[in-house]
Amino acid sequence: MGMKREKAYEECIKDLDSLLEQGVEIVSNLANASAYLHAKFGFLWTGFYLVSEGALILGPFQGPVACTRIEKGKGVCGTSLEKSESIVVPDVHQFPGHISCSPLSKSEVVVPVYNKEGSIIAVLDIDSEKLKDFDEEDKRYLEKISSIITSKIEDQN
Ligand code: SME
Repeated sequence: MGMKREKAYEECIKDLDSLLEQGVEIVSNLANASAYLHAKFGFLWTGFYLVSEGALILGPFQGPVACTRIEKGKGVCGTSLEKSESIVVPDVHQFPGHISCSPLSKSEVVVPVYNKEGSIIAVLDIDSEKLKDFDEEDKRYLEKISSIITSKIEDQN
């Protein structure tokens, strides 16, 4: 990853920590997080799928229209949900079962978002028009961003 993107992620971490609000409905923070990330990096698609009854439904996003429901274990997002892990896809055409929402998407990264009890409540999905646009460093930074979202969820007790 280049220095420029690394610097952008560092700014992101600071900005999102103050932009996202403590204890508001999760969907509001996800909406602002997707808008912020999309504007900051100019990726093709930046958004969230929400866990609903064991599957994923389209949540707040920025970019072209997308498929509204993904079953657990299907596509990159459903695989991330099933395995409870982040996935970097350098070339979407090499990922078996990849779900294509836009023919322009060439690479992708998906990172789970957890609640404070450690259950997945959403996945962050980012698509790029460039091949191999994401690496382990992107994954690390996006996992940090995911943990900021978790930190804003109101404590249940
Ligand atoms: N490519 C994803 C589907 C969602 S769109 O990229 C917005 C997948 O394979 O799960």
